[in-house]
Amino acid sequence: MTPGIKPLVAGNWKMNGLNSAMDELEVMRDQFKPGLSAKIDMLICLPFTMLAKAGELTSRSAVKIGAQNCHKEIKGAHTGDISIEMIADCGAEAVIVGHSERRTDHGESNAQICEKAQSVLHWGHMAVICIGESDEQRKQGATLDVLKKQMTESVPGSADNGEIVIAYEPIWAIGTGLTPTVSDVEEAHQFMRSYLIERFGEAGNAIRLLYGGSVKPSNAAELMGINNVDGALIGGASLKADDFLGICATYQ
Ligand code: PGA
Repeated sequence: MTPGIKPLVAGNWKMNGLNSAMDELEVMRDQFKPGLSAKIDMLICLPFTMLAKAGELTSRSAVKIGAQNCHKEIKGAHTGDISIEMIADCGAEAVIVGHSERRTDHGESNAQICEKAQSVLHWGHMAVICIGESDEQRKQGATLDVLKKQMTESVPGSADNGEIVIAYEPIWAIGTGLTPTVSDVEEAHQFMRSYLIERFGEAGNAIRLLYGGSVKPSNAAELMGINNVDGALIGGASLKADDFLGICATYQ
């Protein structure tokens, strides 16, 4: 928690989900009651193919939806790509950029991630920028150096019209059931906060810092209670409404 910051609980469905099976999303929407939505923001980042329908399903609710990637340009000759304008057209308000799976599967660089984030922010939307060290880097004691380089190169110099959110996701904790110790998460988030204050001044205090990597209902309270952890980015446990809502309930 950071005093004065409304936490953000974000789901990342990755390459999962069909338009013919939207019931989990409907349960999340229906169970996200005003008592809880006053305390936290809820965001579900879906595959592109689900965005239009999800946009309709959540349009009159407090649930925000988002995408998991976008192109840096708004339109043009980029076969197979999707822009922030198209994402916004579906009613989505956020985009995850620089997830480690995109860095690995598609070789995305910090510079490319920065350009994508700039496009989202310029559109007035939320860019959830992911950073995090590999297992090897952690074992070498390089975690904070990795985070600094990733923030320096992939976080734009201005939030423009939008909102910058940073998700710390140790790669070795994603989908493995492993999580860092409380003191490791605290150290990383304190480091990120100090870096952001140094770079952005007082505005660095207001940037939401999420933790991601094997968050589930049973460990959420401990992880979400850490200083400078302003919410979570959740993969596997965001696919089931019960689990996702169980994590949100940590903030009741
Ligand atoms: P996980 O994924 O919760 O399944 O570990 C987190 C993420 O990749 O954002």
